[in-house]
Amino acid sequence: MLLGVNIDHIATLRNARGGLDPNLVQAALICENAGADGITVHLREDRRHTKDNDVRELKSILKTRLNLEMALTDEMQKIALEVVPENVCLVPEKREEVTTEGGLDVASRVEFVKDFVKPLIDAGIVVSLFIDPDKHQVEAAAKTGAQFIELHTGRYSEAFGTQEEEMEFQSLKNAALLAEKLGLKVNAGHGLTYSNVHRMRDIPQLIELNIGHNIIARAVFDGLENAVKDMKNLIQ
Ligand code: PXP
Repeated sequence: MLLGVNIDHIATLRNARGGLDPNLVQAALICENAGADGITVHLREDRRHTKDNDVRELKSILKTRLNLEMALTDEMQKIALEVVPENVCLVPEKREEVTTEGGLDVASRVEFVKDFVKPLIDAGIVVSLFIDPDKHQVEAAAKTGAQFIELHTGRYSEAFGTQEEEMEFQSLKNAALLAEKLGLKVNAGHGLTYSNVHRMRDIPQLIELNIGHNIIARAVFDGLENAVKDMKNLIQ
């Protein structure tokens, strides 16, 4: 299975001070050197983490693939057609949400999504729709021309270790199976952690997992000890 690393929260940290540190491109290169198969960023309407220039820089420097997560707006479509990332993942977006809360509602607007996706695909971009593991959404996604879906693993992640875990896992399994039957390729992501990710290996259709927050959170603790030691050495 492939791993796409979402580095939005490196940008969150950078933006806290308004400078260039920690450098987003450097972070992307570290992820690639560590084996990441792609780098994901979400260009939000409010630009709260990744900025337009980050997307351009990443596209010109990455050796793997740039996966641009974005909402279905004219503004984002224009940027995608200008930058031409290898992948676009279409996500719903609400200004007030902390992170992407639910999957895209494709079922209620198949024609709109189809029209939105077409110029992207014509430009050579591989398009994915971020949807809940729901039969109707998978069936709708298959009518849009998008080559991939990304199954929203948020409910599975939240249910992990509870009575609902099995049900949420089965929903992902069934959705992946249906997607495959309908000719869609399948990725998954959101809320996956070092503790709950192992069950994804039991969904054979999954091609790539997109994981962000838990990797960046772990990286802080993996590096904190050395960071303090290095500073201490400098002032002794
Ligand atoms: N996939 C999509 C479509 C997302 O919106 C996000 C969050 O930006 C992720 C994957 C990664 O989620 P997490 O940061 O919880 O690993």
